[in-house]
Amino acid sequence: MNEVTLNNEVKIPQIALGLWKVKDEKELEGAVLEALEAGYRHFDSAQIYGNEAMLGKALKKSGAARGELFITTKLWNDNQWSGDVIPSFEESLKNLQSEYVDLFLVHFPVTETRKMAWVQMEEIYKSGKAKAIGVSNYTIKHLEGLLSWCEVKPAVNQVELHVFLQQPQLLDFCQKHGIVVEAYSPLAHGKGLDNPVLAKIAKAYGKSPAQIMIRWCVERGLVVLPKSTTPERIRENIDVFDFALTLEEMKEIEGLESDLRTCWDPTNVA
Ligand code: A2P
Repeated sequence: MNEVTLNNEVKIPQIALGLWKVKDEKELEGAVLEALEAGYRHFDSAQIYGNEAMLGKALKKSGAARGELFITTKLWNDNQWSGDVIPSFEESLKNLQSEYVDLFLVHFPVTETRKMAWVQMEEIYKSGKAKAIGVSNYTIKHLEGLLSWCEVKPAVNQVELHVFLQQPQLLDFCQKHGIVVEAYSPLAHGKGLDNPVLAKIAKAYGKSPAQIMIRWCVERGLVVLPKSTTPERIRENIDVFDFALTLEEMKEIEGLESDLRTCWDPTNVA
């Protein structure tokens, strides 16, 4: 599995199993065990997903060594108040049956509370209980605000990003500031998998359109978080390291940009 290096030298596996909307314990356990067998080591959860405890249990059951795993979780909006961040984080650790997380993210740039939340995130980072901290759903404006005063720079910004929502300015900005971008919903929730450009490129490599979407993210240096609980798809989504897109194909895919948001749009959040 390819790894990307964060701004504090922590290494992050480039493809993770996304766990958004996975609420059934058996289904989650099946997906995690399948993913581990397929070579995944990186699992992306969040307090609001309600599945941290299921993930902790599944990982324990797998017998995988903690040091081999990369676990991300995210601070939910209601827990961004100063006094709530650390207790909610401790609860996450308990759920995950772990002494630490590899990456802890502020889930959304809530206007009133995101600044006080980050101060507490920095404390957690300094305690060593989060190996890296970052944000999610931040636009350039939100990042500029944070970078103007923070002590610990965010290592990651996790945003919706796929071939139909390419976010080139945000990518440039993050690259310039040493922030790794993680692409959530890299398959646009399955929308556009029948796109003829993707189908043509997929055919040329004997791959699926989903694999082309994921490979495009890999080639842009992103960490990619496809969600699936289907065994064949879990395997398919990580099987993208044996081919490379040409410059011409990357250009063709650039033409698919259509500002398609399948999730939150933080653009107008003050
Ligand atoms: P499922 O979990 O039933 O396999 P995203 O990661 O962009 O949010 O997309 C997740 C959606 O895409 C889920 O509905 C998931 O379904 C589906 N999906 C995941 N991997 C693939 C794939 N390789 N081919 C087609 N659909 C997929």
